[in-house]
Amino acid sequence: MTAINAVADLSVEGDIGVLTLNSPPVNALSADVREGIANGIAQAVANDAIKAIVLICDGRTFIAGADITEFGKAPKGPSLQDAQNAIENAPKPVIAAIHGTALGGGLEVALTCHYRVAVPSAKCGLPEVNLGLLPGAGGTQRLPRIVGPEKALEMVTSGTHVPARKCLEMGLVDELVEEGKLREGALAFAKKVLAEKRPLKKVRDLNDKVEAARGKPEIFAAFRKSIARKTRGFLAPEYNIQCIEAAVNQPFDEGLKTERKLFMELMTGSQSAAQRYVFFAERQVWKLADVPADTPTIPINKVGVIGAGTMGGGISMNFLNAGIPVTIVEMKQEALDRGIATIRKNYENSAKKGRFSMEEVEKRMGLLTGALSLDALADVDLVIEAVYENMDVKKDVFGKLDKIVKQGAILASNTSYLNIDEIASATKRPEFVIGLHFFSPANVMRLLEVVRADHTSKPVIATSMQIAKKIGKIAALVGVCPGFVGNRMLSQRQREAQKLILEGAMPWDVDRVLYDFGFPMGPFAMSDLAGLDLGWSKETSTSSTIRERLCEIDRRGQKTGAGFYDYDENRNASPSPVTEKIIKEFAAEKGINSRQISDQEIIERCIYPMINEGAKILEEGKAQRASDIDIVWINGYGWPVYRGGPMFYGDLIGLDKVLAKMKEFQAQMGDDFKPAALLEKLVAEGKGFKDL
Ligand code: 3HC
Repeated sequence: MTAINAVADLSVEGDIGVLTLNSPPVNALSADVREGIANGIAQAVANDAIKAIVLICDGRTFIAGADITEFGKAPKGPSLQDAQNAIENAPKPVIAAIHGTALGGGLEVALTCHYRVAVPSAKCGLPEVNLGLLPGAGGTQRLPRIVGPEKALEMVTSGTHVPARKCLEMGLVDELVEEGKLREGALAFAKKVLAEKRPLKKVRDLNDKVEAARGKPEIFAAFRKSIARKTRGFLAPEYNIQCIEAAVNQPFDEGLKTERKLFMELMTGSQSAAQRYVFFAERQVWKLADVPADTPTIPINKVGVIGAGTMGGGISMNFLNAGIPVTIVEMKQEALDRGIATIRKNYENSAKKGRFSMEEVEKRMGLLTGALSLDALADVDLVIEAVYENMDVKKDVFGKLDKIVKQGAILASNTSYLNIDEIASATKRPEFVIGLHFFSPANVMRLLEVVRADHTSKPVIATSMQIAKKIGKIAALVGVCPGFVGNRMLSQRQREAQKLILEGAMPWDVDRVLYDFGFPMGPFAMSDLAGLDLGWSKETSTSSTIRERLCEIDRRGQKTGAGFYDYDENRNASPSPVTEKIIKEFAAEKGINSRQISDQEIIERCIYPMINEGAKILEEGKAQRASDIDIVWINGYGWPVYRGGPMFYGDLIGLDKVLAKMKEFQAQMGDDFKPAALLEKLVAEGKGFKDL
């Protein structure tokens, strides 16, 4: 065995050279790996004893892509293209042997090999789009030459990791080899290639499939239409499509140039910077400063959920989906039956859509037990309370749980803003009490705020993070404060949105601006969807807010066909003259003058106070890092990924600009806009949240 460099070695087995890469954790294409490939192939080519070359990786995966940590830094060592040229132009067959994932640049390297074999568990994909990029090493030109433009469009715009069997069907992989025997299988395949004198198959020379699509722009038009809604606001999907178009309409080398040009545009733009930041933020968020990875955890084999309403039902589904039995408790039989029936209906709808079988529905429902008394929770390992948001009610529940539930179990509250320390004080085991704040719909939304109270123990925190991962959530550890991280920042935006509509912007103006910014919907459309009468009652209504006045005339949101907006029978919204009149009258009563409000002011008023609140959260230590706050906003509130989250966005526009605007607003409108000390400090030091 010859070492090529620190991450590559070449061994000879019979007449096959095996070039092995070993660069943990994922064999990303760092300068060393590129050098290992280029020099390793050159040595194998120079060695007359070697007739064919197998490229294989040690560790958990084949090459998972370019090394993202190198992006934006000065290039070092051989380029990826040098390494790929060494492979593609080798005068001996090169075979990629794939396990784990061949992703991005990894698949692009495999596509320059003359053949590809994989174990059945392997997956291939071009996920660059998820980093705001496109495959920049020939992937967009080679992939359609094997799988055809339609499938290529699907792969590059979705970033899906395609299972090996499917890759085999598509011709992306030439042969599957036995699981766990990749090396033997690849060697056998290489011998076969030699014995059968198979040609050096260069993907770049395959033209049938791209030629067949030439002169058929309708393929692309239809595809663009099909993904328009899902990809609104993102640049990368469109750029990926343009590259596949280039593969169809241009000769290979021209197509490569188009790909390079578009890749560089994306690479140097703010969307990809944001999306790459989010990639690392999603991984950082699991790392806790003072709860080490080896903290003991509590086995969670059985969960109790209190409340069978929308929230409790959604929370339960997460655990049932993960195969964990749930006991759900309600006070009245009717409410319990309704809650359980809703869960069943949700599962049956998924089965109808083909997501899983009816058997699976029964399997999940079989894990669910309904109960009418907290006594049924005596032996669960984790209880999540999702009852009415009222401190006295919560304390009463926790006091009872303390007496009923076995010692060592975690007692969690799903409260979205109440003080967990106070809830914990109702028990004699505050170290086992924690907040697990799910977002509605709880079976769909990815975010979980794990709220650490004063006495919460480290094993309870570690277990909560672990169980979050198990049920497919992304968890952010936050501290106790009103609204925690997400709702605390949201209340800033809500306050300004409410003020803006009294000052002259209409709800549909505010909504349009925030929608165009990239949110799935604006705050007023959201209120209409949720129902304006949440927490409202006719008896206690005092006409003191716009919302109350709307409810009083039975405009209670989408469900009543009217709220801030008017709705037609298909629930399409249109601006409402009635609402406009109510707002104008209300503003006049309050002596607020109506003025023209620019879109820019709407953004600045709604977003900058959120950034400022984020800074306060950081200075109070209620979030571990700025990027955790961004994770909360992306996964819990639909902040557009391509803008990286509010804290990233603050850095992007410049904290000095944010501070100056906050000061200007403060002078005009008072201390709602008082700048956070941390914001002032960072600006004084010329730093951003990224430097913390
Ligand atoms: N570059 C640098 N680091 C990477 C990386 C990459 N491409 N991919 C993963 N890592 C790091 C992660 O940050 C993480 O580091 P940490 O342990 O310090 O937090 C570590 O590797 C392990 O990653 P995961 O925790 O994600 O491990 P999983 O086993 O859950 O997932 C994976 C493995 C499926 C490979 C996943 O990491 C992944 O999807 N990676 C990104 C793949 C990708 O996007 N490739 C395309 C890159 S862009 C490109 O290739 C451009 C080219 O076209 C020119």
